[in-house]
Amino acid sequence: MIERIEVSAPGKLMLFGEHAVVYGRPCIVTAVDHRMRVMVETANDSNLELYAPEVDVAGYIEKINNLGRDDAPKGTRFVSVAVRNFFNSFGIKSGLKVKTKSDFSSEFGFGSSSAVTVGVVKALSELFEKPLNNKEIFNLSYNTILDVQGVGSGFDAAAAIWGGTIYFITGGKKIEPLAAGKLPLVVGYTGIKADTPTLVRQVANFYKENKKLVGKIFDSIENIVEEGRIALSNHDHKKLGVLMDQNQELLNELGVSSPELENLIVAARKAGAYGAKLSGAGGGDCMIAFVPKGSRKLIEKVIEEKGGKIINVRTEAQGVRLEA
Ligand code: PMV
Repeated sequence: MIERIEVSAPGKLMLFGEHAVVYGRPCIVTAVDHRMRVMVETANDSNLELYAPEVDVAGYIEKINNLGRDDAPKGTRFVSVAVRNFFNSFGIKSGLKVKTKSDFSSEFGFGSSSAVTVGVVKALSELFEKPLNNKEIFNLSYNTILDVQGVGSGFDAAAAIWGGTIYFITGGKKIEPLAAGKLPLVVGYTGIKADTPTLVRQVANFYKENKKLVGKIFDSIENIVEEGRIALSNHDHKKLGVLMDQNQELLNELGVSSPELENLIVAARKAGAYGAKLSGAGGGDCMIAFVPKGSRKLIEKVIEEKGGKIINVRTEAQGVRLEA
């Protein structure tokens, strides 16, 4: 029997379609080369012992039978609910030690919760020799995310599993890898941590009160995603920039941008970006810009001058994989 496994899964950036994807529309997400590592080991007791320094969890211990309690510390929930759901699915009972290690801060909005969830499911499937295909890993991970967070489309889990750039429809109804190639992205972090569930609920309330208006915004976002899918296959970066600007306009209409995001987005455009938008739920986290080759340095400089932090990312990152 195998006793120790290490896997890693990539973070992600939303290119087009956030929020609308929660309502059955498509989105396009790309994985980035900042990875979340998950180490799992069997133990001769009936506890889960968790070390997750990036969310200030050092030696959390919980009885396997009690996993997923509502009063468990916040930083432990995705791991403990993923373990509980995996063990329940396969009727497994075992003590377990889990350690996580992230290349990126959980503040950026790169999807650390979904990357860790996917990592745990993949690692356990290897450790207990229960082979799972990508869709099965997705279903277990997505159910875990819904158990913990209550809302979400699952796009981030799909990016962590498949890697690359993917066209995704809510709940994994469609997951289609796109041959997008390397994307010339500049990423600026606002310094403000966004709370995704709060923003998703804010949009849900707006939708409830203004069904027609918000429905139209979602339709327009869907059109942008479809055009973006074609532009990505044609490697038409100029067109992708134009679509980003249009998508940002619609996100503004949904009320999810913020002065800090706008500040960095406008600065990037002025400095020559093909286009720029927020990435993810909005309210903070990161903005992204599609940039021409010669303008990268200048665009990074103006984003920093406006108070943003540049995060260097490379796209075409591999999906979840075994490390050891
Ligand atoms: O804040 P992030 O990076 O987790 O992105 C949220 C994207 C939403 O469409 C708003 C929610 C979702 O689960 O799709």
